[in-house]
Amino acid sequence: MGELSGIKADLAQVVRLALAEQTEDVRMFAARLVRKYRGSEPDLAEQVDLFLRTKPRSAGAPLRKAAAPALPQQPLPVDDESRLSLLKVFKDPPHREAPLLSAALDESLGQLIQERKQSARLAAQGLTPTRSAIFVGPPGVGKTLTARWLASQLEVPLYVLDLTAVMSSLLGKSGSNLRAALDFAKRSPCVLLLDEIDAIAKRRSDDADVGELKRLVTVILQEVDEWPATGVLVAATNHPELIDPALWRRFDLVVEFKMPDISAVKDATSRFLGPDYALFGRWIDVLSFLFHGQSFSDIEREIHRLRRAVALGTASDADLIEDFIRTRILSLDRQGRIDVAVLLAQQTRLSQHSISDITGVSRDTIRKYTADNRIVTPRIKRKREA
Ligand SMILES: Nc1ncnc2c1ncn2[C@@H]1O[C@H](COP(=O)(O)OP(=O)(O)O)[C@@H](O)[C@H]1O
Ligand SMILES: [Mg+2]
Repeated sequence: MGELSGIKADLAQVVRLALAEQTEDVRMFAARLVRKYRGSEPDLAEQVDLFLRTKPRSAGAPLRKAAAPALPQQPLPVDDESRLSLLKVFKDPPHREAPLLSAALDESLGQLIQERKQSARLAAQGLTPTRSAIFVGPPGVGKTLTARWLASQLEVPLYVLDLTAVMSSLLGKSGSNLRAALDFAKRSPCVLLLDEIDAIAKRRSDDADVGELKRLVTVILQEVDEWPATGVLVAATNHPELIDPALWRRFDLVVEFKMPDISAVKDATSRFLGPDYALFGRWIDVLSFLFHGQSFSDIEREIHRLRRAVALGTASDADLIEDFIRTRILSLDRQGRIDVAVLLAQQTRLSQHSISDITGVSRDTIRKYTADNRIVTPRIKRKREA
């Protein structure tokens, strides 16, 4: 391979594009061939030109059975049976707020964005920018959100492939549905997110039709390799252990999302409080302490619940926080309870009596720990990360 030249090389390229069902690319390549061979092989050029004219774009692409025609206003691909749209579209402005990301994540995504923005510089060195990435991590830590933000930064739409829709379509058809969606996404600059790809892997283990599911994995495998440099293919999963090792290796970049550490929890708490920070700000350290160990989306849900109660005037912020602490304190060990009690003593105007009542820590103990005005933050970190 790699030794072909002239007409042979061009023929091989046509076959490659045709097999990949990249109909638009076949057309463009054929048009180039017409120009290239007009002088040296006029008969060939004329014949190819004729094919191009007799099969105009709008007549539907013969190579592509399931996909939409390649018009500027191409309709989104849908499953033939259910008519469910297989792709969800998000178009966000670039000033969209960035997700809370660890320094390591920020760096690797930052590089990805720079590569895409300066792809011409890379091309000058014979390099292509990162074309594919896999986001791994527990639920609710921002994988889907980050894919959306990434697209907004690159100023391209985000297409999310609904794998449940693909999988729920008649099993024998999910391959062509998947292909239709992937082909659609390949035709214009975009970020394509294959969200929760473990859906395929899971079905694989408990479904009779293993052959079909294997084929789906194969379809994806091919795409990761052949993804055009105009787009980014992102896959996300909560279950890396279910991912086929063969699939894993093909991604240019592996991005690992982790549960937030205490400082990220604090940032998240402030962010999710929004304008109610003025009200709840004095509880920020206690809240962060109690939220540590939870995902961003759990923290967000809990804070929104508090904010809704305040908005409706159901309870005062102090009562809400007190209730919240009471429920959370049950799952802490003794040291954790003491830490909360000390925080409350140092940072709020609650009496030692109330603190003792809320946390179950005796007033003696609270006094002992607060007497020398110890700073509690370093201990919090150590304890909770153990
Ligand atoms: N890193 C983050 N920064 C800010 N908000 C987040 C972050 N991670 C999750 N969230 C909040 O939780 C919601 C769900 O997160 P999502 O991206 O769907 O998680 P995942 O895809 O990892 O399961 C988001 O819409 C957002 O409101
Ligand atoms: Mg998600």
